[in-house]
Amino acid sequence: PFPEQGAQVFKNSIEEFNGIFEHLCSLFRERTLAGQLIKSAGAVLENAYAPYSKYRVGAAVLTSNGNIYTGCNVENASFGATICAERGAAMKAISEEGSCGITAIAIASESEEPAPPCALCRQFLSEFAGPDMQVYLYSLASGVLRHYNFGTLMPHVFEL
Ligand code: THU
Repeated sequence: PFPEQGAQVFKNSIEEFNGIFEHLCSLFRERTLAGQLIKSAGAVLENAYAPYSKYRVGAAVLTSNGNIYTGCNVENASFGATICAERGAAMKAISEEGSCGITAIAIASESEEPAPPCALCRQFLSEFAGPDMQVYLYSLASGVLRHYNFGTLMPHVFEL
């Protein structure tokens, strides 16, 4: 019986190793994607049209198909017509892919404390994102990075 037992122990260790390896790979993939998303949000902030507030925002969303779409805030002299970076990015994603799920979003700003999405954008995003959407807030000025689950930021979604 000994060789069989040995083989079983060996098989178990291999399986355990594979499990740990897979887990590390998925952590690495997640980190790499988050890095790409944050970089994209920071880059698109340069295109922000914010002559009134001078507050520039860039956003990048990741869809369930694995694609990244970016958006920046676009202000208007009729202030209410202003569109936030987050909704701009989501609009691009939905226009290209239909109402695909959004699995992560990065938002870049230049205030010391990185800007969280406004309540209007949270409600807007809630139709395309679940509570487990990853939210990365990054300040280009201070380097502060905050990480939330969408469910923490938007616990009570209005639905019809
Ligand atoms: N802004 C965004 O782009 N996203 C937010 O979630 C908060 C606010 C923009 C809108 C406006 O152009 C500027 O920031 C100041 O409110």
